Amino acid sequence: MTDASNKTFTLTNDQTGESVVLPVLDGVDGPSVIDVRKLYAQTGHFTYDPGFRATGSCDSALTYIDGEQGILLHRGYAIEELANKSDYMEVCYLLLHGNLPSAAAKSEFEHTITHHTMVHDQIHNFFRGFRRDAHPMAIMCGVVGALSAFYHDHTDVNSAEDRLISAHRLIAKIPTIAAMAYKYSIGQPFMFPRNDLSYAANFLHMTFGVPAATYEPDPVLSRAMDKIFILHADHEQNASTSTVRIAGSSGANPYAVIAAGIASLWGPAHGGANEAVLTMLDQIGDKSRIPEFVKKAKDPDDPFRLMGFGHRVYKNFDPRAKIMKEAADEVLDLLGLSDPRLELARELERIALEDDYFVQRKLYPNVDFYSGIILKAMGFPTEMFTVLFALARTVGWISQWKEMMENPDGIFRPRQLYTGEAQRPYVSLDQR
Ligand code: SDX
Repeated sequence: MTDASNKTFTLTNDQTGESVVLPVLDGVDGPSVIDVRKLYAQTGHFTYDPGFRATGSCDSALTYIDGEQGILLHRGYAIEELANKSDYMEVCYLLLHGNLPSAAAKSEFEHTITHHTMVHDQIHNFFRGFRRDAHPMAIMCGVVGALSAFYHDHTDVNSAEDRLISAHRLIAKIPTIAAMAYKYSIGQPFMFPRNDLSYAANFLHMTFGVPAATYEPDPVLSRAMDKIFILHADHEQNASTSTVRIAGSSGANPYAVIAAGIASLWGPAHGGANEAVLTMLDQIGDKSRIPEFVKKAKDPDDPFRLMGFGHRVYKNFDPRAKIMKEAADEVLDLLGLSDPRLELARELERIALEDDYFVQRKLYPNVDFYSGIILKAMGFPTEMFTVLFALARTVGWISQWKEMMENPDGIFRPRQLYTGEAQRPYVSLDQR
């Protein structure tokens, strides 16, 4: 971030003629920002931007998105290259440390993560308190938030060492907890992690393996799982990441902070959309009914939205959706499966992208549009889809939290435009 001192914006109050000169800050790429940190002190006015559509809440070096061009970079590397040439452990290292690891550094990182995958045995007891039909995201919120009860040894958020240990523990244990949530829901025993498996293969083993049989995760499915994790790893200051930053700004411990991110991701407008896409495709059922649902999506009086479509930032194809669509073909071909939902999704995409309503509003498929089809083909139930998104996004959340804590800027405390009652005297009950 550079304070381009020769670049300023002048704001003039048309009622009083008073002006204030505001600095413009330039990033490495993307829109410059008008620094309004002194605006209230200089003018007695707040800015007003509900939903933060035009607000930069922080500076960050992790992820860059160009919504118009459909570009997504992690530490400068294009998501297409990372998805096709890297692996999730390497992307985790990249997000945490800023550069791709050397072979030795990668091996050490993988060893560290692998040897933190087990959870305290008493965590198993938490699951007993949930109904078997509890939504697994409810379990994730509860269990991840409770992790801090087991790690008093390293939760000093002001210690770089403790922050890194917490990051390692969260990245390592989130797949174990996610798999436990699935096992609990189907009444099968929990599977312990295996240190001889890769991160993605280990997750498939803990999810689909059973104690009574040997389960060797299919290497192609493990690779597909790993690629799906990469595609969900981080995404700038989205709703759940902003939740993580706000929660972390109070000094809350990293486990509570990630639990807050999980809770925010759960919503159908955000990470819950992948589950909602499958539900929507099942509702549509047949290509002949697509026009009926497209009409509903376009009706301003109908709350129905085309799930998996549109994005606050992308006004072009979400690059992740393109990769996910290719992966859907690969996985279904590998499994020798044909899912009518894939054809339905393709036809829905084709019709929507030819419809002026979607074209004018620049509504394209996003990361959630095709992911559910792959996950369903891999054997995951629909209610696990957002859990997988949370699993993969944990590295992004904790890396954004770590970046914020390395340069803390105090507690996030937005102001408001007050629209309530002016002060008025209390009226006793017998006078009302
Ligand atoms: C994720 O932020 C991130 O980076 C998130 C994410 C990440 O990796 O963290 O990318 C993950 O959350 C992806 C988005 C998943 N959500 C969905 O697929 C749910 C369906 N999409 C919509 O709810 C919506 O597109 C949002 C919430 C994603 C974005 O909403 P915006 O930017 O607030 O869009 P908007 O409301 O300004 O929409 C502009 C217009 C409106 O119509 P008009 O008032 O102009 O007539 O487009 C319409 C909207 O009604 N619109 C849609 C639509 N999305 C927007 N109409 C029909 N179907 C849709 N999906």
